[in-house]
Amino acid sequence: MCGIFGYIGHQHALPILVEGLRRLEYRGYDSTGVAIDDGSHVQTHKTVGKVADLKAILPETVSGTRGIAHTRWATHGGVTQGNTHPHASTDGAIHLVHNGIIENYQHLRRGLSARGVDCVSETDSEVLVQMMALELQGGATPLESVQNTLQHLRGTWGLCILFRDHDLLICARNGSPLIIGQGQNETFVSSDPHPLTAHTQRVVYLDDGDVVVINRESFQIKTTKGLPVEPSITVLEDAWGEAELGDAPHYMYKEIYEQPDALRQCIGGRVDREMGTGRLGGMGLDHQTLVQAAHIHLLGCGTAAFAAEIGQMLIEKMGRIPATTHISSEFRNNDPVINPKSLYLAVSQSGETADTISALKEIKLKGGQVFGVVNVVGSTVARLCGRGVYIHSGPEQSVASTKAFTNMVAALTVFATQLGRTRHLSKADGRNLIRHLQQAPHLMETYFEDIGPIHEAVDLLCEADSVLFLGRGLSAPVAKEGALKLMELAYIPCLAYPAGEMKHGPIALLEEGSPVVVVAPNDHLKEKTMSALHECKARGAKIILIHEKGDPIGAEGDVSIAVPAIHPWLTPLLTVLPLQLMAYETALKLGRDVDRPRNLAKSVTVE
Ligand code: F6R
Repeated sequence: MCGIFGYIGHQHALPILVEGLRRLEYRGYDSTGVAIDDGSHVQTHKTVGKVADLKAILPETVSGTRGIAHTRWATHGGVTQGNTHPHASTDGAIHLVHNGIIENYQHLRRGLSARGVDCVSETDSEVLVQMMALELQGGATPLESVQNTLQHLRGTWGLCILFRDHDLLICARNGSPLIIGQGQNETFVSSDPHPLTAHTQRVVYLDDGDVVVINRESFQIKTTKGLPVEPSITVLEDAWGEAELGDAPHYMYKEIYEQPDALRQCIGGRVDREMGTGRLGGMGLDHQTLVQAAHIHLLGCGTAAFAAEIGQMLIEKMGRIPATTHISSEFRNNDPVINPKSLYLAVSQSGETADTISALKEIKLKGGQVFGVVNVVGSTVARLCGRGVYIHSGPEQSVASTKAFTNMVAALTVFATQLGRTRHLSKADGRNLIRHLQQAPHLMETYFEDIGPIHEAVDLLCEADSVLFLGRGLSAPVAKEGALKLMELAYIPCLAYPAGEMKHGPIALLEEGSPVVVVAPNDHLKEKTMSALHECKARGAKIILIHEKGDPIGAEGDVSIAVPAIHPWLTPLLTVLPLQLMAYETALKLGRDVDRPRNLAKSVTVE
């Protein structure tokens, strides 16, 4: 979603800002702009489209060592140049970029109108810069103009503000992430750690309510009411994985094929093969808490929710303890009953998903214990939870999540094993599972050496008006994940159902040639899944079957794709791979933008 980058220091700001925007591109956006103080006035350049389009309209050089930049994902107002950030006050004294949503902006806009100030854009953000300008005109300092304005707002914000006549930047955070990067006599502002790593490892994650005044050599953090806040410096570790594309054709391709190494990073040092258990130190769970946990609740959205559903089943299988997955947006709005004896797991790649953050705040408020299952180190979910497990997928830049899914599943598997071993799971069963889990990266590599007839499947999918995905047990969420991937990348309507539900409705869709993707690893539910497959076939459906290598059911598919055999509880780690490749290749063949599907954003930071 929207991205902010800001700079004040001793270097030319423009190339730094443009490179910052480029590194924020993966979040998803539809227009982009910069504002730079060139020493005599503030230059603003904006465009609808990509950062490359912005680059094309920028002057060759712009002197100036202070500026702000933005990638906008439209919420209030269409995708137009006028709605693109930065927004300026009518008198040109203030320029501002904003992430988040101002809920009461219409009321504020009417208030401005009554004072003779008419906004020129349709955005909620512009009201902020106009309100600050009125404060400044009334004699307030830049800091006071921001503090006074924030008092009138309802909603969420990450703000970076440039004052034409004051050599500083001001930032503020409430609900939308913002990070300050400290260099040598220069300071960077970003909504995401990724663009900062090119400049500095020393960063400060702002908390809600923080307002920061950034001068050339230093910065001071205050609360909205002006009380000083001691900055807590985090040193960014060298993360695993390359954030740049390198030789790969797309980020999604690169990330699919990174899964074996990502999985090694996730489970390395976290399993005890001898004792047949998991060791998730960051969860800080003692034996007693594990034994006494009444219920495990998992929360997430999209792909993270499907990974959570697999985790839920494994927790119940190994721990024999009730587990439930909740869609974060539903959970938080349904007045949930929170049991302090339950454990709550917030599952999120970005750690910035607004619905998951709101849900976990609600749980904490009601006394529940929440743990993060997160990829991005230092993200809001990770910091709010304080405890949890980093899945160590490395940077995931493609909007469609792939390697985060398999690592979420792996991390939850390790958790389920740890939980199970304090309860009913025998040492022999635990050891067997861990042994197979450690083999999974190699088995992924084996699959990638021979991916099977993906192109034949793509030929069927490209022609389809809709696609049905079926699976049972652990393969039901895998089917959902496959459907989500194909739908979001290729824009083909996809339905996913537990195979047994097929005859209760979706079967009505089937006609001669309808593609049905069936996920049928060699587990105890396979025979039942095959009954559903036969029912589809009898109605003329074309079956794309994902099965285990060597299994004779391979003969039943119109297109059959084999994955290596593995422990029945670990099959999602392998069966999802051909589904990811099918979605990627189908989208490519249909000419879609694989890494940046339309309307989607990588971090969904608004509700
Ligand atoms: C699908 C996808 C989304 C995300 C969802 C949650 O490929 O990427 O469905 O999974 O928006 O995002 P995180 O995991 O960052 O909370």
